[in-house]
Amino acid sequence: MRIVTESKPLEQIEAGTLIVPVFEGQKESRFGAAPLAEAGEVAGKPLEFTLLHNPTGVAAARVLLAGAGKPEKFDSAEFRKLVAAAVRYLKGKSVKSAAAALAGAYAGDDFASAAVEGALLGNYEPDRYQTGNDKKSLESFTVAGGSPTLERAAARGRILAEAQNFARDLANEPANLLTPVKMGEAARQMAAEFGLECEILDRDRMAQLRMGSLLGVAQGSAEPPVLIVIRYRPQAGGNSAHLGLVGKGVTFDSGGISIKPADGMEKMKYDMSGGAAMIGAMRAIGQLKPAIPVSAFIPCVENMPGSRAQRPGDIVTAMSGKTIEVINTDAEGRLILADALAYARQLGCTHLVDAATLTGAIVVALGHLNAGLFSNNDAMRDRVLNAARAEGERMWAMPLDDDYKDYLKSAFADLANVGGRWGGAVTAAYFLKEFAEETPWVHLDIAGTAYLDDAKPYMAKGPTGLPVRTLVRLATDWQA
Ligand code: BES
Ligand code: ZN
Ligand code: ZN
Repeated sequence: MRIVTESKPLEQIEAGTLIVPVFEGQKESRFGAAPLAEAGEVAGKPLEFTLLHNPTGVAAARVLLAGAGKPEKFDSAEFRKLVAAAVRYLKGKSVKSAAAALAGAYAGDDFASAAVEGALLGNYEPDRYQTGNDKKSLESFTVAGGSPTLERAAARGRILAEAQNFARDLANEPANLLTPVKMGEAARQMAAEFGLECEILDRDRMAQLRMGSLLGVAQGSAEPPVLIVIRYRPQAGGNSAHLGLVGKGVTFDSGGISIKPADGMEKMKYDMSGGAAMIGAMRAIGQLKPAIPVSAFIPCVENMPGSRAQRPGDIVTAMSGKTIEVINTDAEGRLILADALAYARQLGCTHLVDAATLTGAIVVALGHLNAGLFSNNDAMRDRVLNAARAEGERMWAMPLDDDYKDYLKSAFADLANVGGRWGGAVTAAYFLKEFAEETPWVHLDIAGTAYLDDAKPYMAKGPTGLPVRTLVRLATDWQA
């Protein structure tokens, strides 16, 4: 989609359809909308849309009155959603171009970025494998405003949304087409395009590094595992923080020998969404060039019950030297992340964030609206929460007290890979904490937020691309 910036006032914008937020309690009287407002047909309720043809007083052919809710609750996150929902509404009507004018309470650069992001995110459809030629999408989106930095804000919005959509595309790939090796190739290609270093560790290299925990998961599949490493280095390298982004890359999670029930198992192609988010974030980081070095580590495996698969009761030795009793082979995410976290630390990362579709338990706890956030360091937790808030990606801080360790006791190894029935998201996080050790670290359990089972007005069904924007902002806001 073409993104255009303009400094023209709203009246003069010539795009096919002008998207205009309408607030609750503020009767819209422009464009000939007064009678509709009087009749209560246009009330500004959230995501209520009214399309006006031949509106008065504007150059645009149509005005879409877009319900924006209560003005005191309207922020850039609401604006992003509103534009995205408007774009989805309009493309359903075969509209090809739209515009939004920044004004009043929504004139800042964060709103300009949000508008562009909303347009690109709303325009996205996971339809790569549908062969029909009746696909509807918006061809151009204009954001108009008076800010001297409008262009820059729009460019940032485009970079962020394209990175997020890239992650969505990757996450949506079916497991027959996106194997661990293919995921490595996708990362390598992205890195080459955006000036990043990329290294793909194969099974032999991982065996040399003694990544027994990761390799134990991989051994049940005919598809070989890879560990993707992507590096961004700032121009002026100093003695600064080094951010490590670690993402779960299970291209398919059958559960292994502890096999999952058939119902809904197709969704386990999304089990590499955390890894996809890290690759997407690096795509934006390569363009936005933060002041600190950032490295991504994505362990990619397929969790399958092949004849060489690991069994419940197996004991593996992780790269850090800790031994793990594998009680349940379906708790595989933590096993591959354990070695990836250790490797990130060995390569000098001073701060770590991981994202993983790790547990069904986080979905029980938080539903599909908030990612679960766990941390061993309050300052690091607050950095991530602040970035998430600024980007409108909701996360909720969960506990990680020391005595959760008791849940992971094993009679035969240093720890078990599952913690029993209760507190499943917390015990999974605690397991990871054992491998983050003293490094300030945040774990994001995105099992409930990485994909939508049904479309929302502002987003298609399928992968959401969360938390790409939070990760990028975390890196770009970091003071070296
Ligand atoms: N990939 C799943 C978690 C998941 C569940 C992601 C639902 C998305 C939606 C993970 O590998 C898993 O199977 N976790 C188990 C852990 C259990 C065996 C301790 C779970 O949550 O049931
Ligand atoms: Zn699993
Ligand atoms: Zn999994």
